[in-house]
Amino acid sequence: RQADWVRRLVRESVLTPADLIWSMVVHEGEGEVPVASMPGVSRLSVDQCAQAAVEARKLGIPAIAIFPHIDGAKKDAAGSLAAAPNGVVCRAVKAMKDAAPEVGIMCDVALDPFTDHGHDGIIEGDKIANDATIERLVEQALVQARAGCDILAPSDMMDGRCGKLREALEAEGLQDVMIMSYAAKFASAFYGPYRDAIGSGKLGTAGPADKKTYQMDSANTEEALREVALDIAEGADMVMVKPGMPYLDIVSRVVREFNMPTFAFQVSGEYAMIMAAAQNGWIDEERAILESLGAFKRAGAAGIITYFAPRAARMLGA
Ligand code: PBG
Repeated sequence: RQADWVRRLVRESVLTPADLIWSMVVHEGEGEVPVASMPGVSRLSVDQCAQAAVEARKLGIPAIAIFPHIDGAKKDAAGSLAAAPNGVVCRAVKAMKDAAPEVGIMCDVALDPFTDHGHDGIIEGDKIANDATIERLVEQALVQARAGCDILAPSDMMDGRCGKLREALEAEGLQDVMIMSYAAKFASAFYGPYRDAIGSGKLGTAGPADKKTYQMDSANTEEALREVALDIAEGADMVMVKPGMPYLDIVSRVVREFNMPTFAFQVSGEYAMIMAAAQNGWIDEERAILESLGAFKRAGAAGIITYFAPRAARMLGA
């Protein structure tokens, strides 16, 4: 390990801009609105998302994952706006595809940005109704696909949603749209800043107090593998593990067992931890960013969804 040249020569995994999916938040207003709990991340206007897509192309970042911030007054219990053909997600998708058609666009399929109670699905009684939720997700996904989205990414964790999405895409002549399922998504404290970023409704106002009835128990590995197997059988083209760094063992197991393109989501809380420590002078920010992203490659991930994408791409010399 004495010289850089030999370290490079024997390196087993390499991080490049082509491994990154840029996680981005769009809002309905003008200009950018900084997210307090995520220094360096802002909600962007539709126009700014289009500019960001051009930037992604320049930096060699293959894809962008878009998440919406919705005005609280427009939310309801059913998350009705999720399937609005002219909603902010669809407008952003069109603007980004117009500006940089070479960049892949991925949309989140879940109701939580649009529900006033903050859950990913419809509430019936005191539960999240699995099948009723899937019907709404299919409507949402078709609207996103028609707007030009390349990858649908269901993050809701309802059972059977990948199969229903695949069926609906085929029936509508949208068979080329891909599905990247949030196959092993754990109920996690690390989503905290995201809920701030998208202005999520406060959990517990209706329905369960948390998302543990549909997101996975953080103690489980075998169940994660069963979840991944189901989504692949239902037609997922790619799978994801989320959160990222605390779940590298799951990433590694999924890669070994299924040999599918497997992605990891370096979530908002992971971003916030690195930035908070760096801003306190407790860790070296740039080294921590690249080391954390490189760890996903070592674990075998095909790529990483991350808020650091543009910065990391620049550091990698794009
Ligand atoms: C919800 C969703 C969440 C994230 C992406 N989609 C949060 C949740 O499950 O409550 C989290 C992303 C992040 O923390 O960066 N469908």
